[in-house]
Amino acid sequence: MKETIYSVLLFLAAIIMVLQACQHEPENLNPDPDPDPDPVIGDCHPDTVYFQNDLLPLLTASCARSGCHDAATQADGVLLTNYESVMETGDVRPGDPENSDLYEVLVEDDPDKRMPPPPNEPLAQEQIQQFYTWIMQGALNLECIDAECDTEDVTFSGVVFPHLQNYGCVSCHSGSSPNGAVLLADYDAVKTMAESGRLMGAIRQLDGFAAMPPTGDAMADCPVDQIQSWIDEEMPDN
Ligand code: HEC
Repeated sequence: MKETIYSVLLFLAAIIMVLQACQHEPENLNPDPDPDPDPVIGDCHPDTVYFQNDLLPLLTASCARSGCHDAATQADGVLLTNYESVMETGDVRPGDPENSDLYEVLVEDDPDKRMPPPPNEPLAQEQIQQFYTWIMQGALNLECIDAECDTEDVTFSGVVFPHLQNYGCVSCHSGSSPNGAVLLADYDAVKTMAESGRLMGAIRQLDGFAAMPPTGDAMADCPVDQIQSWIDEEMPDN
């Protein structure tokens, strides 16, 4: 008899613990975000980090995914789908990256706190550096338009691979079990995909290919043209 009571009590205690563990889940979901304020648009300067060009595609691909920081989930109250929500829920403090949550989680040593969390790969060092620079430059909502798209002598390391990083391609398509069993982690892998025609099929979102990136905007015209030009030049490893 006593044992039965004990096991009932243990069972209840377990249920209470489970319920409490679930409680912090949907903290305070933000209401539907306001339409994003229009970014300030100008020419592209190489030393400036542009939120709309450089960071938003990456945030959309790597962070604002279903089950993470999209509008439906908002894990930990963090929504990373547009400028305003990134500033507010990512606690971005212009000029002070070390005290901005959005930056802190990228450089966190503790794998339980680091974003994106394992088994996802951490962001590349150059990408983390872009967030740092953007916050130091005032965390502004800037967009730039290349006056002309330079498709001459496109290099792999200076142009092609950075585009693939910016659009989140590399983070989904690297590691030991890349998405769709497609690897884009280095020169050889990208070359193989390009030769098979699947790289441009996916980027140009042609019939018969999975459209990439799977969420957010398609790759802008200039990066598409540059990658095409690199392929046309027989994919130099430069
Ligand atoms: C959020 C993760 C994610 C991101 C970001 C992403 N992909 Fe994918 N990719 C996938 C998944 C999942 C598949 C498999 C889709 C399928 O088979 O329907 C895939 C498939 C592909 C394929 C195979 C397409 C085919 O039909 O043969 C290519 C090529 C590809 N991705 C390239 C890219 C490129 C280039 C980018 C960046 C512009 C990119 N991916 C961004 C997840 C991602």
